[in-house]
Amino acid sequence: MKKWLSLIMMSMLVIGMLAACGTSDDSANGAEGEKTEDKKVLKMGTSADYPPFEYIDTAKSDEIIGFDVDLAKAIAKELGYEVEVQDIDFNGLIPAIQAGKVDFVLAGMTPTEERKQNVDFSDVYYEAKHMIVTPKDSGIKTLEDLKGKTVGVQVGSIQEGKAEEIKEQVDIKIENRNRIPELVQEMKSGRFDAAIIEDTVAKGFFEQDKEMTGFVIEDENQEEAGSAIAFPKGSELTKDFNRVLNEMKENGEVDKLIVKWFGGEQ
Ligand code: ARG
Repeated sequence: MKKWLSLIMMSMLVIGMLAACGTSDDSANGAEGEKTEDKKVLKMGTSADYPPFEYIDTAKSDEIIGFDVDLAKAIAKELGYEVEVQDIDFNGLIPAIQAGKVDFVLAGMTPTEERKQNVDFSDVYYEAKHMIVTPKDSGIKTLEDLKGKTVGVQVGSIQEGKAEEIKEQVDIKIENRNRIPELVQEMKSGRFDAAIIEDTVAKGFFEQDKEMTGFVIEDENQEEAGSAIAFPKGSELTKDFNRVLNEMKENGEVDKLIVKWFGGEQ
């Protein structure tokens, strides 16, 4: 009697497992971009400390908004997906992709060679430049002026690499923090003399804070700080997202979002 019972239970388990496999197969096919009636949800990772790319307007709600969020939702919608946004420290985004916690990342992330070893990237959707940000009264106007100063950068960002590069020429002390607003805070309290932040994001801070100013670091390689979408290695989503992204670049949809979030004069 007991034997029968366990046999039945075993077979139920097997059937259950097969059924589960079946559904996951279906959704894998769906990831090819075909539209189905019921909406599927994709998890997006971002570091919501980066206005106007991704941030929380705490005065209004606790929702993560910004250029990247709009762009992700527009692309996903075209492909028949909904997007669920998760806030993760910038440094944890690539590990989150690798651990399968998120399906993709939009976080103003630059497709560097080093990152390409761990994740796949779409084409670049927005280009930015590195900026040295300082309090207005700092007297820092050139890279040379940074001599002996403390410079803040975000952990795991390419600005961290940029700071190391500068350090080879000018003697600076590098400090890092997980979130961009912490860098601004440390400057205001006098612990940092400067920070390296991308120009578009820095300009947003200047508008809110009249005590801050900055200058762009002129690089031969202007594409150095561009943003792209990151996916798990080998993800089916990469080519679908890239196709829609490029359609949106051509038909002016990306430009519309740029005007909405970065203002007119680009
Ligand atoms: N583009 C830079 C990088 O990839 C900085 C991006 C920071 N993004 C953010 N959401 N905090 O390293």
